[in-house]
Amino acid sequence: MAVDLLLGLQWGDEGKGKIVDVLTKNYDIIARFQGGPNAGHTLEFDGIKHVLHTIPSGIFHKNALNVVGNGVVIDPVIFKKELDALKKFELDIKSILLISRKAHLILPTHRLLDAASEASKGKAKIGSTLKGIGPTYMDKTGRNGMRIGDLELSNWKEKYRALADKHEAMIDFYDVDIQYDLKDLEEQFCAAVEELKELTFIDSEEFLYQAQKQGKKILAEGAQGSLLDIDFGTYPYVTSSNTTAAGACTGLGVAPNQIGDVKGIFKAYATRVGSGPFPTELFDEDGETMGRVGNEFGATTGRPRRCGWLDLVALKYAVQVNGVTELMMMKGDVLSGFKKLKVATAYKYKGKEITHLPYNIEAENVTPIYKEMNGWAEDLTKMSKVEQFPKALNEYIAFLEKELEVPIKIVSVGPDRTQTIHR
Ligand code: GDP
Ligand code: IMO
Ligand code: MG
Repeated sequence: MAVDLLLGLQWGDEGKGKIVDVLTKNYDIIARFQGGPNAGHTLEFDGIKHVLHTIPSGIFHKNALNVVGNGVVIDPVIFKKELDALKKFELDIKSILLISRKAHLILPTHRLLDAASEASKGKAKIGSTLKGIGPTYMDKTGRNGMRIGDLELSNWKEKYRALADKHEAMIDFYDVDIQYDLKDLEEQFCAAVEELKELTFIDSEEFLYQAQKQGKKILAEGAQGSLLDIDFGTYPYVTSSNTTAAGACTGLGVAPNQIGDVKGIFKAYATRVGSGPFPTELFDEDGETMGRVGNEFGATTGRPRRCGWLDLVALKYAVQVNGVTELMMMKGDVLSGFKKLKVATAYKYKGKEITHLPYNIEAENVTPIYKEMNGWAEDLTKMSKVEQFPKALNEYIAFLEKELEVPIKIVSVGPDRTQTIHR
């Protein structure tokens, strides 16, 4: 049975958590393949709002297994907090949550290194979530990292000490003013590790291979978005993993010819949190309205998200890089009340009009060229059928489908599980 993927097509926070939760009823296994606690995936149902960071978004469904894949980086301290927040739901976590032995560990000193690196960059800072993501993936590719499987070894604390000592020397090298009490951080870390060790560790690539052979339905859940991909995003203002479809192969051990549907998710407008270029960003009342109505604050850091019009040049690029087979449009309800909507269909770049994403998309290189469309006044949040959609919304959807050449299968009209319309 092929493995389906669900990926963000913009700069993250498209609504992946909500849609994975909605789709889990159709799957046996939900598997996160990259990123770590930099992610914040929000789920809403029965009047409860829940934010997950490392744990896959299928966790609230009794019949699904949730796998944290080898491509994920895990901070035991944050993981423990996530587990604590789940306690009131009385889930059988040991049975339904499985962790890859090959997933890498975020040490307290990785977080400190993240902070030191950002502080040293001054104005050029990435705007990292400061969860230690970059330094952990650096240790992974530098072949110095610690993995979940190491925690089963009797000498894991020695390995830990050697790596943490090295990190401390590196922090000194940055020569920035970072205040910390490592002893306290290490106590928290070791306590959290003991709790983590109570969970189920697996050889996840073998587990997923056997599951595929048995015909189990698997959905791979991405974190971040395609424009934050380490290779294809707006480098260096990106995260440190492959957020695109290829990342699911390396982050789970799924062969490329075993990938089925590629579900791409996007907001009806665009947002970005952290630094980096954003050609369609708005600095006016329209942007302020999107932020306020869309409640655009980071689910992990609480930072306000920058808002702007939908960028079809960037979206087409993401559809292309991922091989998206179906689309999901989120937060259309936030655009209700805008008389006119704009969608960037091309860029002016070095005096020429182009329709592909160039190497450099900073404001000084790129000016978006917009198509203006009619907005809709109707409140979408109570709608439950496509037939209720206003004409202008149907026109917006039809235009995007024509441009992207991929059908929009789901239109989300609010944060709740139930506010999801299948087309
Ligand atoms: P993720 O990182 O892709 O899972 O997305 P986040 O959870 O970080 O951010 C998406 C935010 O939008 C969350 O607060 C969701 O509850 C909310 N949301 C998701 N879909 C919709 C929608 O269709 N309409 C509105 N108004 N909010 C939505
Ligand atoms: P989800 O899965 C939005 C951004 C940060 C920063 C850059 C690098 O919720 O969509 P990092 O901490 O990875 O070193 O930060 O990437 N970023 C996200 N933005 N949603 C996310 O995840 C993000 N994860 C990282 O803001 O600009
Ligand atoms: Mg998020």
